Amino acid sequence: MAEQLKILGVCGSLRKGSLNMAALRACNELMPQGMAMTITHIEDLPLFNQDVFDAGIPEAAKRFRAEVSGADGVLIASPEYNFSLSAALKNAIDWASRPPNQSWQDKPVAIFSVSQGPLGGARVQYDARRILGQLWAHVLPRPEVFIGMGPSKFADGKLTDEATKKFLTDLLAGFKPWIERMRVKK
Ligand SMILES: Cc1cc2nc3c(=O)[nH]c(=O)nc-3n(C[C@H](O)[C@H](O)[C@H](O)COP(=O)(O)O)c2cc1C
Repeated sequence: MAEQLKILGVCGSLRKGSLNMAALRACNELMPQGMAMTITHIEDLPLFNQDVFDAGIPEAAKRFRAEVSGADGVLIASPEYNFSLSAALKNAIDWASRPPNQSWQDKPVAIFSVSQGPLGGARVQYDARRILGQLWAHVLPRPEVFIGMGPSKFADGKLTDEATKKFLTDLLAGFKPWIERMRVKK
């Protein structure tokens, strides 16, 4: 049987009605064959503190680090907060970034963003790409998917906009060969 790539879905919004989470869930139906996604949660991660880390990594952070390390690729859906990352997403990235075995090393990552404004979170994506790049994650350069005017593209917690579904389908279709190309054989 062909190998099934394990994708970890991470949503940077903690909101129950998050549009980013709705789009991430929609990706389950838009993925090419040979990829399967599990969506994790990050709201239980404490605020990063090196003293806490040094005293013994909290269970939630251990779990998140193991999830990132064990995934073939990480798919991030990110809101834009004040032109940048939500605190929750930055905190999760930080927890998985500390040695030993920093979890982002050589990790294929794809990112998209949903925002209320017309730019669709362009600014947060460039910040996230910069942060993950210096951790030696390999972030898919293209296609870029910015879902602007978010509320108009969802109904009852579901992605309804056909053009947006096509953009996400193309992103996922590009992510698969990117993972195969970038991942390090262990
Ligand atoms: C603290 C905060 C800051 C925000 N800053 C921006 C912003 O810089 N650009 C933008 O397009 N939308 C901004 N928004 C609006 C978000 O795009 C909108 O709330 C979006 O739906 C959040 O994603 P979610 O639905 O996944 O929670 C902000 C929202 C919050 C709560």
